[in-house]
Amino acid sequence: MTEQATRTDVGVSQVKCIGCGRTALPDRFRCETCRDLLEIVYPGWEPQGPYGLSAAALKKLWLDRKSSFDAADQSGVWRFREILPEIAEDKIITIREGNTPLYELPHCARSAGIQYLHAKHQGMNPTGSFKDTGMTTAASFARAAGYKWVACASTGNTSASMAAYAARGGLRSLVLIPDGKISWGKLSQSLDYGAITVQLKTDFDGCVRVLNEVVERMPVYLLNSVNPYRVEGQKTAAFELLEQRAWEPPDHIIAPGGNLANSSAIGKALREMKQLGFITRVPRVSVIQAEGANPLVRSVRENGGEKLIPVHAETMATAIRIGNPASWKKALRVIRETGGTVEQVSEVEIALAKAEIGAEGIGCEPASAVTLAGLKKLVKQGFVKPNETVVLVLTGHTLKDADFTLKFHRGDLFEGTPHEQDSRSLKPLQRSPLVLEPNVDAVIALLQSAE
Ligand code: F0G
Repeated sequence: MTEQATRTDVGVSQVKCIGCGRTALPDRFRCETCRDLLEIVYPGWEPQGPYGLSAAALKKLWLDRKSSFDAADQSGVWRFREILPEIAEDKIITIREGNTPLYELPHCARSAGIQYLHAKHQGMNPTGSFKDTGMTTAASFARAAGYKWVACASTGNTSASMAAYAARGGLRSLVLIPDGKISWGKLSQSLDYGAITVQLKTDFDGCVRVLNEVVERMPVYLLNSVNPYRVEGQKTAAFELLEQRAWEPPDHIIAPGGNLANSSAIGKALREMKQLGFITRVPRVSVIQAEGANPLVRSVRENGGEKLIPVHAETMATAIRIGNPASWKKALRVIRETGGTVEQVSEVEIALAKAEIGAEGIGCEPASAVTLAGLKKLVKQGFVKPNETVVLVLTGHTLKDADFTLKFHRGDLFEGTPHEQDSRSLKPLQRSPLVLEPNVDAVIALLQSAE
């Protein structure tokens, strides 16, 4: 590594329960006493900052690393290593994750009724989703801790990511996915990267239940997002986003909500940035769910977020087809702390937003598009003002679910569903592939008619 900050005890992290605050062993996922989730904290940051470095020194160090050829420096996660748990350099598994673009979305801004809209595109990671940023930290920890096997239950992206990082790090991996309810692209990735891939005849929540027992009985390290090391890697996306905006916070950050770890990670990053003096103001973090997979929205609306109301999840945005999200308490804390909100969007609204993001030449998978669909609602409600700055977190690449896109453009996405009637409004955005004879005049005539 280049320009290594001097490492002392102050950098060492601790694992703590989010409920009772008791410390836990580093390879645990829930508090032994109260069963709440765990998070990583850094007591050594006080009083002088990580490794005694000020916010200004860290900002410069992290930016300088972008011009290094060292593998860890080239990672958009590990270049922020001063705010991550310490892992020996030779144990780091990196596929050069992070360093993802922040795009302007002028047409989507107009469609939502605001002036400034950007997207932090986490789908531009090595395996095509935001999961890579958390997988590099958690898989590296697994290797450092001596595990031979890692495992996850997944709606497809975690499994693709885990399979890749396990393969790169010489670990064996086991994937549990819901039978028939994930995209073929994602399934093909975990096969390609060599994971043992099992399609269980249940949904994501059922896969989680089975896996939790498997890891109790076998020496297998769990890489689901309850893993606190995943959250640490994922939080670097928010550090990077602020860096890309010259440390000027946007007014709003909007993220999709599934198992609710990503919004938790973004919020943790913002909390830490404020604590360390990187920023003085924190953006509002809002979470959008699909109407058919809306446990957080229901819980907030029906009991003020006191208790989670699990639902039977059903949505074409299969990545967020989750009814019993593990990290709901963490996400709720972020929403409350930052003054954000929760909203839900329909299947037709998701499809429309996805097509609009695609038409900007950017594209994303359906679960990511809930952010734009949700933004439109938040603008209508007056929660987001037309002159406020908004960043959408796009979590997955458009090629993750090519089937959805093809069906949308062919016009049969909603065929035989209760949304058939509503979906007629999508027609103007549909571009069905055309079949012509190999005839120059026919192609020219088509061009002229399209002018
Ligand atoms: N967007 C995409 C593309 C996802 O794959 C996921 C979650 C989310 C959003 C939601 O993020 O769970 O942190 O709230 N996918 C997981 C998986 C569950 O197994 O790939 P979250």
